[in-house]
Amino acid sequence: MPHKVLIEDTQEEYSCREDQHLLAGMEALGRKGIPVGCRGGGCGVCKIEITSGQFTKRVMSRDHVSVEEEEKGCVLACRVKPQSDIRLKVIGKMKKNVVRGVTK
Ligand code: FES
Repeated sequence: MPHKVLIEDTQEEYSCREDQHLLAGMEALGRKGIPVGCRGGGCGVCKIEITSGQFTKRVMSRDHVSVEEEEKGCVLACRVKPQSDIRLKVIGKMKKNVVRGVTK
């Protein structure tokens, strides 16, 4: 069963399977202009903060996510897969692209 993912910045929701990273789901939303980078945890454009929900994550570069940030729920969307419904905020370079086009 796919999980629901809510982007708090825009109140948009999309579904994401457990075997799919959160970034793939955002891309599937089809918003033009989302700068998707390396998809491998190396560039940091897809940084998000998970505000609720369970997820699994793979190793992320400390250049992009510090230990303190990770404790607060900051992760790279391309390294994280949902285990439950998720709420998140976009905080990386994707943010203005995600938010643009929704706010009039
Ligand atoms: S796309 Fe490069 S860190 Fe996620």
